[in-house]
Amino acid sequence: MDQSEQKLPDIIPTHVAIIMDGNGRWARERHLPRLAGHRAGVEKLRRVLRAAVEFGIRYLTIYAFSTENWERPSREVRGLMNILEDVIDRELAEMHKNGVQLRHIGRLEGLSPELQEKVRHAIELTKDNKRLVLNVAWNYGGRDEIIHAIQGMIDDGVDSADVDEDMVHRYLFTSESPDPDLVIRTSGELRVSNFLIWQSAYSEWVFPDTYWPDFGPDQLREALWDYARRERRFGTVTAPIA
Ligand code: FPP
Repeated sequence: MDQSEQKLPDIIPTHVAIIMDGNGRWARERHLPRLAGHRAGVEKLRRVLRAAVEFGIRYLTIYAFSTENWERPSREVRGLMNILEDVIDRELAEMHKNGVQLRHIGRLEGLSPELQEKVRHAIELTKDNKRLVLNVAWNYGGRDEIIHAIQGMIDDGVDSADVDEDMVHRYLFTSESPDPDLVIRTSGELRVSNFLIWQSAYSEWVFPDTYWPDFGPDQLREALWDYARRERRFGTVTAPIA
């Protein structure tokens, strides 16, 4: 067993974001329907969330349903919406008990009124929890988020001379979270796919060659080791990590 399997690095990223990719391929390899892959993905999410709390990560952002995912077969879209509803029904109490604060990023108004209500209830119930903030990106797209921010600034009559990076940050769906330090994309795909495109400008990225349903606490720990070995320079020459 190497060092990365045994203990945690001293430097833990404050904010980890994850593109949970590979559910479909995981299912196909097992001759299962795609939704079985998504359900297996939920199980892994539960374990990774628990590990993230235990490892001391303060913000976890997960890409669960993109603005482009509406183009998938309607059965899969319906299935994913049912999964979200199910997760809220079954997991909310446990998340609340463990100090997880749930937030949503994306266009909530695109969901059914019943689902919107459940999401709002979950956000309200957990809003004072402090151990870990879980941002669920659902009906989320990075470009859409920037359009939403620009619209917000125009609607509020913001003077163009006052638009700077802090101002843009304040109008993003993630305005209450720091930028991600580490972004993990599973399944071996090397793409950003419209995820946190503003916020990840200086994030470290890792691309484990593992489908999401095979990704668990050990793989998360490995990604944290990868991160800890990087030197973050933020475009300069010397900034130490963290
Ligand atoms: C990408 O795999 C995964 C998704 C589009 C859905 C991810 C959703 C979950 C894991 C469950 C829902 C989470 C919550 C918070 C309720 P893919 O289908 O693109 O896989 P492929 O690239 O192998 O086809």
